Amino acid sequence: MSAPATDPSRGVPSGRRQILVTSALPYANGQIHLGHLVEYIQTDIWARTLRMHGHEVYYVGADDTHGTPVMLRAEKEGITPKALIERVWQEHKRDFDHFGISFDNYYTTDSDENRVLAESVYGALKDAGLIDAREIEQAYDPVREMFLPDRFVKGECPKCGAKDQYGDSCEVCGAAYQPIDLVNPYSVVSGATPVRKASTHYFFRLSDPRCERFLREWVGGLAQPEAANKMREWLGDDGDAKLADWDISRDAPYFGFEIPGAPGKYFYVWLDAPVGYYASFKHLAAQRGIDFDAWVRKGSSAEQYHFIGKDILYFHTLFWPAMLEFSGYRTPTNVFAHGFLTVDGAKMSKSRGTFITAQSMIETGLNPEWLRYYFAARLNSTMEDLDLNFDDFQARVNSDLIGKYINIASRTAGFLFKRFDGRVQDSAMNHPLLVSLRAGIPQIAAFYEAREYNRALRLTMELADLVNVYIDHAKPWDQAKDAANAVALHETCSVSLEAFRLLTLALKPVLPALAKAVEGFLGIAPLQWADVSVPLNSAQPVNAYKHLMTRVEQKQIDALLAANRESLQSTAAPAAGAAPAKPASAAPGAPATPDTISIDDFAKVDLRIAKIVACRAVEGSDKLLQLTLDVGEEKTRNVFSGIKSAYQPEQLVGKLTVMVANLAPRKMKFGLSEGMVLAASAADEKTEPGLYVLEPDSGATPGMRVK
Ligand code: 2FM
Ligand code: ZN
Repeated sequence: MSAPATDPSRGVPSGRRQILVTSALPYANGQIHLGHLVEYIQTDIWARTLRMHGHEVYYVGADDTHGTPVMLRAEKEGITPKALIERVWQEHKRDFDHFGISFDNYYTTDSDENRVLAESVYGALKDAGLIDAREIEQAYDPVREMFLPDRFVKGECPKCGAKDQYGDSCEVCGAAYQPIDLVNPYSVVSGATPVRKASTHYFFRLSDPRCERFLREWVGGLAQPEAANKMREWLGDDGDAKLADWDISRDAPYFGFEIPGAPGKYFYVWLDAPVGYYASFKHLAAQRGIDFDAWVRKGSSAEQYHFIGKDILYFHTLFWPAMLEFSGYRTPTNVFAHGFLTVDGAKMSKSRGTFITAQSMIETGLNPEWLRYYFAARLNSTMEDLDLNFDDFQARVNSDLIGKYINIASRTAGFLFKRFDGRVQDSAMNHPLLVSLRAGIPQIAAFYEAREYNRALRLTMELADLVNVYIDHAKPWDQAKDAANAVALHETCSVSLEAFRLLTLALKPVLPALAKAVEGFLGIAPLQWADVSVPLNSAQPVNAYKHLMTRVEQKQIDALLAANRESLQSTAAPAAGAAPAKPASAAPGAPATPDTISIDDFAKVDLRIAKIVACRAVEGSDKLLQLTLDVGEEKTRNVFSGIKSAYQPEQLVGKLTVMVANLAPRKMKFGLSEGMVLAASAADEKTEPGLYVLEPDSGATPGMRVK
């Protein structure tokens, strides 16, 4: 076993627990963005909280490296998958380090440990009679000579006819179907029409009554009622086995582990991904002399927790526990799912600059602990979605962290250092205010452990309010004016700084870097929960106070949004798991715009008849008119158009025109533009000025499609 996380003489609680913690493994074909960070920050706060109790905690992660998207992305970049995953690993590691994510090991699923573990899990399932081989038909790209995952086939929805829908479900009407059901399907990889082709696949027999029985029992231990309900819905009523067998193999070409005894067949990425949790831990165990088997084999007394997004609950509450149960491993103690992140009330969007990458936060110099604090202040133990609102972000960080917390030290530390040699008044350490603060700390620690971070921080800020009221009342700046008040001033500053120490303890899981700086300033050892009752003392003077944290400025947020808008025009990687934007077979350096486009490319543009119901000049712009368009939807659209040189606003009102209705909304200085109006102009607008807004023939009505 490894060394204890804390010095036992500093009060390790009795009943030291062994805890393995994971966050979902990010795909190795994209950048870390804010959506990922919610989860890593949530998990990290939890791991830190438990370490601060002195428990033996290991937090492990890895890149999820296998599968078709990684393979195609590497091909598109003209490099090998191994080279791609090596580069992305470095980027991910840099991002996690920057945000203070305290992985004990950050590894890769493309490792020897993972291959061996995945093979042994598979072998055990096979021995248990839980693997079946069956022939199935799938969409196949005859040009690229590969089977196509659902997301790599597009076409018209078989139900509502919406164009350009993925092979698994329609984003317009919500219908779920198979890729082969699509009308006019095409391969996203080559553009070819897919054909149906048969192949042998291996299935994990989740429908086996043993699996069902086990899962029905295991669900009882899930901490989140929403997750347990979802799982019971999947399980159906007792006896009416609803679970489908799970296809765990893929055909070559595939980047992954070949299945033993099945040449040309590979483990599906989702089989070896969760096994990657154990592979990362195994790698760590070998370095630190931890008894891996004692932690992960059936009968282990260690605890095991997986933090995930609610979208991958199915994998973590059905497949993963069943795989473990029937291959000799212990099963997860719990799975904690969180909701999705929205930014300013909407899905993260590249065109609005709200698809914010970790890298852009590093480059624009925003303090990573601001984000940690903000997410923590919004997080609770449920699967509810959470919103990052930048006004709220700025207000909360500035008012809570700077206005309430930092302010306590900045108003009192200077006096203690200059007037009292940095030494506290020992008799002040039992002041009633400090007694109240100390009483609150175990509750705060318990809120963190229950993943009620918003409540932990609310209580912390309530305590900070009490301290500020105390300082406002004592007025150390007045006390300092008269030497006769020296004892009172000494008490005020001593109480305030001990309160600051206690608040730092309360904030430490969320703000580890700041806490470290405070520990340096106070001259104390790294804070643990048990230190609640170890006050500052006069034998250990505090150091000179240096400012600990700056305020969030609006210009920093503007710069962040601008950086992410710009990255859209540059070579930003697609979102994790996203299909490549261009055919993967395009040679590196091929022109971005081909001379011709396919009918399918054209079909991606949603052209609609729009009626201009209002129009006005835009103050402060000599090019733009602001149009209000009726496109046959419930709400009108707002569009800014650069046609002021050619039209008076009143000339346009009432006219019908053509608009691009599915253009991503764009945030402009004057407001949000929700589409684009089409107008003709000469090739050289300088020598031949003139703009001509398109108008349909009479009979067209708002909302009609232009094809
Ligand atoms: O959804 C995802 O991003 C996956 N890469 C998560 C894998 S988690 C675990 F199972 F490995
Ligand atoms: Zn549909």
